Amino acid sequence: MPRLCFATNNAHKLEEIQALLGQDFELLTLKDINCNEELPETGDTLEKNSLQKTQYLFDNYGVNCFGDDTGLEVESLNGEPGVYSARYAGEQRNAEDNMNLLLEKLADKSNRKAQFKSVITLIQDGVITQFEGAVEGEIITEKRGNQGFGYDPIFVPENLGKTFAEMSLAEKSTLSHRARAFAKLVEFLKKSNVV
Ligand code: IMP
Repeated sequence: MPRLCFATNNAHKLEEIQALLGQDFELLTLKDINCNEELPETGDTLEKNSLQKTQYLFDNYGVNCFGDDTGLEVESLNGEPGVYSARYAGEQRNAEDNMNLLLEKLADKSNRKAQFKSVITLIQDGVITQFEGAVEGEIITEKRGNQGFGYDPIFVPENLGKTFAEMSLAEKSTLSHRARAFAKLVEFLKKSNVV
């Protein structure tokens, strides 16, 4: 069974991907390969950041790996916070602060359409491939639910009437941006006869 390391320090992302895994490959975490450092993400697009953190892992630890970079893009804010989603309200990278700032900025906007977009980069024996997944929805006016992470309490996907934070992990995984990008990665591995 092939092994792939997931380039993330985010426990929630790890949990999401572990739940999606099937028997197709073995997932290694950063802990498994004794990587205890922050992975660099200084790019100005999701594609660049996704590549940067994954490439860093491949170059410095010599493992086949994949990593994602994700952003929440709000239509009436010209795509903000986008690639800056993690530190929208400052370097403290606090989810409550980020949501509060977004709710403030949207206070007088009637268009509350938004999408989550994930770009996953796979590096397999030095070969780089990227996969994209997105889910459309809207930003509601108050936080609801306590599952998930990040902006989940204020994002209602696809008119479903509940936020990501009001869904179980299994339910979020049927339609989330990351699950959609990850499904493409698994499909790709199957087509290339890697799994
Ligand atoms: P990252 O740079 O890919 O780690 O993610 C950027 C930020 O986007 C995170 O810190 C979260 O605030 C937000 N984010 C990423 N994925 C999700 C998600 O599935 N739900 C809610 N927020 C997310």
